[in-house]
Amino acid sequence: MNQPMEREREFEFREDDFRFISSLVHKQTGIVLAEHKKDMVYARIARRLRSLRLTTFRDYCSLLESDRGEEEIGNFVNAVTTNLTSFFREGHHFEHLSKQALKPIVADPPAGRRLRLWSAACSSGAEPYSMTMTCLESIPDIARWDIKILATDIDTGMLAKSAAGEYNESELEPIPAALRTRYINYDKKTGMGRMNDALKKLITFKPLNLIEPWPFKGPFDAVFCRNVVIYFDKNTQKELFDKIADRMKPQGWLYIGHSETLHSVSKRFKLCDKTTYQRVL
Ligand SMILES: C[S@@+](CC[C@H](N)C(=O)[O-])C[C@H]1O[C@@H](n2cnc3c(N)ncnc32)[C@H](O)[C@@H]1O
Repeated sequence: MNQPMEREREFEFREDDFRFISSLVHKQTGIVLAEHKKDMVYARIARRLRSLRLTTFRDYCSLLESDRGEEEIGNFVNAVTTNLTSFFREGHHFEHLSKQALKPIVADPPAGRRLRLWSAACSSGAEPYSMTMTCLESIPDIARWDIKILATDIDTGMLAKSAAGEYNESELEPIPAALRTRYINYDKKTGMGRMNDALKKLITFKPLNLIEPWPFKGPFDAVFCRNVVIYFDKNTQKELFDKIADRMKPQGWLYIGHSETLHSVSKRFKLCDKTTYQRVL
């Protein structure tokens, strides 16, 4: 039987190019790119080819394999990550963070009023800023607390956007109006909104690859690790959640994405609410 014709594409993209790219992505990030992601990979990497003025994927793969590959690898990783996010995404997590996680801590403060939160795949920053607004709203005497929110991601482009903290009107729309008034400074001309200093001073943005060693110990009171492990294989997920548990307070809270589960992945957490877990081991 004849093979179906490859669609006419701007750049030649052969099966072995896709295999090379998906194996490099897995090695670098833990992300599994199945066959049905081929068109998505083409679209994302094609931008790199245009900007490097290359004409085939073979040339791009050769560049990655060459001595100059080191220079390109960051752009390559940034190009293949999926960064979809939004403020107060999966709102029930922020409700839980406020009422079930922070409220008891505020009622019975730990030594030094120390509170540590981590957004483990923060993308363009909507998640850590939403976490920080939730802290500021839930802790009345916040000035007396030692609060730090760590926000990390592998994608350096997304981290730069996070640290700048500037968003357009439609990105800011999911933020409740009262919080927008309190925490965002608007530029009347451009309509862009900037996260204010009260938020920014509590967050540290750092590049971090979740599948590589981590340079911090925690312990965290709450970790948001949402909509990232969905791209990882089971073993990578198991190792990751074990490492996360090691860096959490004994009864710390873990929030994962809406289509993710710890069932048959980790016994160190118990499910307490929708995609909301508490460390037990
Ligand atoms: C879909 S976004 C999720 C953003 C946010 N957590 C949320 O739920 O809205 C997934 C993020 O995971 C990041 N990511 C993918 N692989 C990673 C890895 N190995 N280490 C750290 N971050 C990674 C991507 O760069 C991307 O920003």
